[in-house]
Amino acid sequence: MSKSDNIWYPYTQMHDYTRYLKRRVISSGRDFYFYDNDGNKYLDGISNMWCNVWGFNTNRITIAMINQIKQIPHSTIFGLGNDKSIELSNEFLKLTKGLNKVFFTDNGSSAIEAALKIALQYWSNQGNRKKTSFLSVADGYHGDTIGAMSVGYVDKYFKSYKKLLLKCHVIPSPKRVTLNGIVNLEKLNLLLEKTEKTIEKNADKTAALIMESGAQLAGGVNIYPTDYQNKIKEMCKRHNILFILDEIATGFGRLGNMIEYVAQESVPDIACFGKAITGGYFPLALTLTSKKIFQQFSGTLGDQKHLFHGHTYAGHPVGCTAVIENLKMYKENNLLGKIRSNSKQLRKRLQDFQSIPIVQNIRAKGLLAGFELAVNGKPITIVDKIPINYFVMRESLKRGVLLRSLGATMIVIPPLAIDSDSLNKIMDTQLEIVLDINKRNVS
Ligand SMILES: Cc1ncc(COP(=O)(O)O)c(C=O)c1O
Repeated sequence: MSKSDNIWYPYTQMHDYTRYLKRRVISSGRDFYFYDNDGNKYLDGISNMWCNVWGFNTNRITIAMINQIKQIPHSTIFGLGNDKSIELSNEFLKLTKGLNKVFFTDNGSSAIEAALKIALQYWSNQGNRKKTSFLSVADGYHGDTIGAMSVGYVDKYFKSYKKLLLKCHVIPSPKRVTLNGIVNLEKLNLLLEKTEKTIEKNADKTAALIMESGAQLAGGVNIYPTDYQNKIKEMCKRHNILFILDEIATGFGRLGNMIEYVAQESVPDIACFGKAITGGYFPLALTLTSKKIFQQFSGTLGDQKHLFHGHTYAGHPVGCTAVIENLKMYKENNLLGKIRSNSKQLRKRLQDFQSIPIVQNIRAKGLLAGFELAVNGKPITIVDKIPINYFVMRESLKRGVLLRSLGATMIVIPPLAIDSDSLNKIMDTQLEIVLDINKRNVS
């Protein structure tokens, strides 16, 4: 038995995954490449589960983290401050217009749990015990803990846990109003009318509406039409529901903007950040709130109005240091400028896919793109007798690139600071694999 047999991989059928994929064990990284124990290298085509910004070389983030760990490796913020969490909050709040308080967690799902608890307690602290459910958007994804699964319910993943989940009502996903990046305004207006009716009907019992900011990612790369997010925000305001935005996957440059809600002029009551904020170097996430929310938690100890939530590693100074240095690197390297030029290159390369018969509905924003693989309108699920996502991973790794698809949705999500040659290599590999799938399906 190899030592890796002791490990239980996420979202992986451990019984048979080696039937589809050769066992590979990563032991180091350089530039944007993973290196395995056998000396093979793989270009990171998925941003290391969507959080890789700078690649794997030693840089000022790693050096600052090492210096910090020598200073003090951990210092709790349960009732004490630590200098790095304070510095982080000062720097972060310069970016996040309208939000003034920072709550620390250590992964995206926990940041969502904190947001949901804050929303619920915001109402109960005012004596409103009716607002106990949530509104979410169909095809949204917010993580794998109980609250996060409830507001990002995906039946094929979460049905075993359904009985545990919170009460939720769902507004329609905007994905069907956009085709190849072009919005059907008539359909959009109908969708918005339907959405407002659902919000209005459930307003009395709803604490908050939660949605991903700018685009849904895991639910199929659904980029919102311009102004959609703002319209939802306005509806929440009209019907007295809190508005929570999840920027965990889409903020910090992924869609070409530092803070997506600022670019979309849709300041929420609560926002969650994670993944890229540390450059992917440390598990740290944040839940930010407005002053209006924070004030409802104020009172004497006896009032019991304070937030009953906290994780051991909240405000971890090493993680905070990573965020602080990462922010400096964004600025000094003009990363947003680079993302925008990378985005132009990505769009140009997507033209290579346009005339491939199985490719449908290409859409892109910033350094994110997606398209469907289908035959006669039916998504391709099996290729070479194996599930398409295993096929894409197997074929890409063979070519020295790590790619994953979301079922029949091909996703392009490279590290944010990627160089032009590496981006081309990712797109060349995607193209080869898609052409191969096309050949197997269209004779
Ligand atoms: C939009 C969004 N929210 C939340 C999460 C959960 O983050 P984590 O995996 O760090 O718990 C993810 C993870 O992919 C995500 O894409």
